[in-house]
Amino acid sequence: MKWREYHESTKHSIESLAHARHGLDWENMPDPFRHYKGVPVLDLPADPPEPEMPALEVLQGGLGTTPVTDGPTFLSQLLFYSAAISATKRSPSSEYRYALRVNPSSGNLHPTEFHFVTRNLNGWPDGLYHYDPSRHMAEQRGRGDFELTLAACSAPIVLVLSSIAWREAWKYGERAYRYCLHDVGHAWQAVTLAARSLGCESFTTGHFPDNDVAQLLRLNNDEWPMLVLSLHGKSIPVRKAEACETVWFGGQANQLSKETVSHPLIDSIHAATKLSSIECSRISVGEPAPIGFGEIRLPTSASSTRSFGEAARMRRSALDFRGGMQSMSLAQLSTILAVTAQPLLADFAGTRFIQLYLYAHRVDGLQPGVYRFWQDRYELEQIGRGDQRVAAAGLSLGQNLAGNACIAFSMIGDLDRAVRAHGDRAYRYVHFEAGAVGQRMYLAAEALGLAATGIGAFYDDQVHYYLNLTPEQGQVVYHFAIGYPILDRRLEG
Ligand SMILES: Cc1cc2nc3c(=O)[nH]c(=O)nc-3n(C[C@H](O)[C@H](O)[C@H](O)COP(=O)(O)O)c2cc1C
Repeated sequence: MKWREYHESTKHSIESLAHARHGLDWENMPDPFRHYKGVPVLDLPADPPEPEMPALEVLQGGLGTTPVTDGPTFLSQLLFYSAAISATKRSPSSEYRYALRVNPSSGNLHPTEFHFVTRNLNGWPDGLYHYDPSRHMAEQRGRGDFELTLAACSAPIVLVLSSIAWREAWKYGERAYRYCLHDVGHAWQAVTLAARSLGCESFTTGHFPDNDVAQLLRLNNDEWPMLVLSLHGKSIPVRKAEACETVWFGGQANQLSKETVSHPLIDSIHAATKLSSIECSRISVGEPAPIGFGEIRLPTSASSTRSFGEAARMRRSALDFRGGMQSMSLAQLSTILAVTAQPLLADFAGTRFIQLYLYAHRVDGLQPGVYRFWQDRYELEQIGRGDQRVAAAGLSLGQNLAGNACIAFSMIGDLDRAVRAHGDRAYRYVHFEAGAVGQRMYLAAEALGLAATGIGAFYDDQVHYYLNLTPEQGQVVYHFAIGYPILDRRLEG
């Protein structure tokens, strides 16, 4: 299967939803936490120091610092502010309590797993680890040298983000592969930005031989490697290299459900986007993004002193937004757009494939209407006039939050241009970029006293029709909304 076939087959339309399977098999719901039975478990110190640099400065490219000088606390900080549990919710009808994490996830199903390889960290044995957010601990799958040849060799910390598609497919069926990719994009930026707040640079590799990485990590076959992140910088507490015998513990991965229901389209698109080691030898930069301009120059950005640590752990998806009259300022919108335009340091992100279309409902100084954001010139071009609230909600599968927000977005992915550069693998990259843009918007909104929600459900072709997009201009891959959140009474902090 090629990407286009998968994408077309998983579009939402009135007809596709009418034929969709309804009801969830709660007895078979996948466990949101992976564990490896029988391996040593290493403690990550509780309550590590909070990264104090303002979130907006981190999002604008600033590099923070950390007072931490030991490896375990450094790792704890990195994961506590990117992947840990950060709140719980209680369902009022069933009293069922469930965990929410620093990184968002479609349906809160969390398909993304975090593995990491460490080398020469102070007070921490070299090895291969799996992060267990349920205990904020590291499962040691192997001790010694687990070199990932594709990552920068000198990196003291290399993370591998993997995805368990079944967790999402349980609820969302064949469309779930798209959400897994978005989730990885969110997690990618969650880690990258937490690392920056601690003074670490990173580089991300998407172009790697899948089977080799899966084999090196001995991933269970329900789990697929997606991104490799190398972290480096003076703030990482390192010691002198010590020779150490390599010991493999492995461990037994837990079974997530009684039964895994097969999803042939997901298996096919995943296979189509895999690379062998021969295909990985070279990565193309691709054609540059088209350049355009708009009549609205965006003002200088708004400011906020909210720390990165607080914004990352307090970030929540709004269940809905307060409709009413309260608007956001053009400076706030401008700040949010500016942080989405910051460079994404990855081998596949030399040119950008996502363009933002805005449905402005309540932004001071911006007439209600539809706008296109030209990232290079930092300008908005108005392409539609009038109240967009009903349209934005309707296009987002009738979800009111897209109409009650101050602003909603369609992220349009230039899939054809991306595929010309990277083949079918590009299907992943475009969705990673959309998730990355979304994660930056979540954190900027939080820093500015607003809230956001990612929206994976939309009527694909209706969006194209409404925005008057020709096939060459791309396809919608993600929706997003930002505004003033209503109180969520299920939240327990
Ligand atoms: C890729 C993606 C798609 C999402 N789609 C929707 C959506 O269509 N509607 C919605 O209300 N929330 C959506 N969400 C928000 C999730 O439901 C939310 O992230 C999850 O419940 C966890 O809550 P948290 O973000 O507060 O941690 C989406 C989130 C992501 C990352």
